Amino acid sequence: MTGSTLFSKLPKLLHGGDYNPEQWLDRPDILEEDIRLMKEAGVNVVTLGVFSWSVIEPVEGEFHFTWLHDIMDRLYENGIYTVLSTPSGARPAWLDEKYPSALRTSRKRIQNLHGQRHNHCITSPDYRRLVRAVDERLAEQFGAHPGLILWHLSNELGGECACELCQEKFREFLRRKYHNHIEELNQQWWTTFWSHRYNDFSQIEGPAAHGEKSIHGLNLDWKRFTTENTIDFLRSEARVFREKTPEIPITTNFMHLYPALDYNKLSKEIDIVSWDSYPRYGNPDRSLYDISAENAFDHVIMRSFKKDRPFMMMESVPSLVNWHEFNKAKRPGEHRVTALQAIACGSDTVQYFQWRKSRGSYEQFHGAVIDHLGRNDTRVFRDVAEVGALLETLSEVSGSTVRSKAALLFDWDNWWAIEDAAAFSDKTKKYPQTCLNMFKLFLQNGVDVDVISSEEPLDGYEVVVAPMLYLIKPQVADHLKKFVSGGGQLIGTYITGYVNENTLCYLGGFPGGGLTELFGLYTEEIDTLYPKEKNGVQFVSDAPVSGTFSARDYCEIVKIQDASVLATYTDDFYSGTPAVTVHPYGQGNAYYVAARMEEDGMNALLKQILADAGIACRPLPGGVEYHRRQKADTAYDFYINYTTQQQEISVESGVDLVSGRPVGGTETIEPLGVMVCRVQL
Ligand code: GLA
Ligand code: ZN
Repeated sequence: MTGSTLFSKLPKLLHGGDYNPEQWLDRPDILEEDIRLMKEAGVNVVTLGVFSWSVIEPVEGEFHFTWLHDIMDRLYENGIYTVLSTPSGARPAWLDEKYPSALRTSRKRIQNLHGQRHNHCITSPDYRRLVRAVDERLAEQFGAHPGLILWHLSNELGGECACELCQEKFREFLRRKYHNHIEELNQQWWTTFWSHRYNDFSQIEGPAAHGEKSIHGLNLDWKRFTTENTIDFLRSEARVFREKTPEIPITTNFMHLYPALDYNKLSKEIDIVSWDSYPRYGNPDRSLYDISAENAFDHVIMRSFKKDRPFMMMESVPSLVNWHEFNKAKRPGEHRVTALQAIACGSDTVQYFQWRKSRGSYEQFHGAVIDHLGRNDTRVFRDVAEVGALLETLSEVSGSTVRSKAALLFDWDNWWAIEDAAAFSDKTKKYPQTCLNMFKLFLQNGVDVDVISSEEPLDGYEVVVAPMLYLIKPQVADHLKKFVSGGGQLIGTYITGYVNENTLCYLGGFPGGGLTELFGLYTEEIDTLYPKEKNGVQFVSDAPVSGTFSARDYCEIVKIQDASVLATYTDDFYSGTPAVTVHPYGQGNAYYVAARMEEDGMNALLKQILADAGIACRPLPGGVEYHRRQKADTAYDFYINYTTQQQEISVESGVDLVSGRPVGGTETIEPLGVMVCRVQL
């Protein structure tokens, strides 16, 4: 798929967003005006149907599609394509009244009342049957519409249900996983501890604060089950469209780094990855660059699920949201850079929630392209129109992808297991934050990195960083060994390889599962520091990095087998023992950083390893972000200046598509400026 655009009907960058005309059916004047303004704003796509169930099917079995046909037709006649959503994200009142099994049950085993959204029991056969009924109608009614480009299943799937139906399904999941053999489960969950042995699968209940919450294997399997059940639901929706409209691709929109579902697994079920981006811009305690770096991490996680094609930024906001602690408006110029960041990271779309502000109810003050004012001469409208025009100018970028030579490993089940471990310090485990901090080092060095699961193939990568890989799944150690022996550079850290996939500790030395051999060392102890404490990591004289850097939070005390010591601790009873090591293995090297070393130290080490691997860093001024997208032998180099000063950057010879100017060598990038340099490779 590499190099082709996401949609052959619309082979360009997409601009648009959620559109809810069903809220305005009694205002045909407004609907007319919407289309006129969309064209003015350079909108070429809208998402219809999100949460439209009570209008589409106001009573069971009675479907109203005329309004949707009319709108899709009119949009299409005006060059605006449709992403059509299934309405399953929020249930109408009649459904819950008649079929209460659709209502979600909390871990306290209390069933919700009707209301809100995203709160279904996705196991409920009634809910599934009614979703299927409406989905079938949608596929039949709109599958052949020339304006349709994508099915958008549900909306931000999430959460869990603990009803009896879900408990029984969980037990089935466990029976399958443990081969219907309760002793296997007892062994993997180590239930002899505290006399928690089960005699039969029927005795098992999912975790609850007033019930079982101390068996790590149970907690982890419950989360895995929730992901599996969500996939099962997603498949039940997808099946309808795969059968009836196999040529129309499918997505479901993800949230940011959402802790409750393993998005890596969900992403395998859809054709195009899409997600909703709502960073907390404008926080005076943080720079725009820093806030955006976090957003880049999310973008890159989404991009890395399908590296051969662009992703979609399905939602974002041109101004402010209504659910942050402080709902600050984007400053002039901020919308342009933040929208372009998505494209730089590999999105082919800039889409908003939403086109027009609702008049009432919960999101009436959430930012949108069209305000309650209803005018096109607002600052926000002009900002959006400017982005629309810019995306049109950058059309040729569509279909290009980012090709990284470095990867950062990030696993949801590792995250769950670390969080749940009764160990270390709950205040400082910070697994995602640690991965983000590593990611930021790549960003600062102008090196594109993919963020992938530890189970993904590592072919094509030269450098792999695996922060805090506490839980080692089967085959992962072999996988890493193969990567290093084939010439790869691997960086592992403290808290690696403590437990197997079911949270049983590895015996005979961490990092276990076969990794002691790869790193050439084992861990004897781990010291958790109080927040005000630190140790020092001093590089030895012939190490490729020089200097002493502080270490905080975690210091492992390791014993060398056949690794070489690159740095040692400066303080405490383990002063002088190894803190950073390297172990040549086959053609490559396995580095181990035994302490949470401060950024400067990690950066110095990383730069050296990148250089050894032949990956060139791109020197960037602070506050400037860089990414390269590629298509055949054309590269698109994105430079985004998040600062309010001009910055000097050094670029390869080519053309800046934003200004249309030839560029090369040292160039000036304007405050909150963007350059997209087309470079022939
Ligand atoms: C989510 C939802 C949207 C809307 C926005 C508001 O992303 O998908 O329907 O509620 O949040 O920011
Ligand atoms: Zn349920």
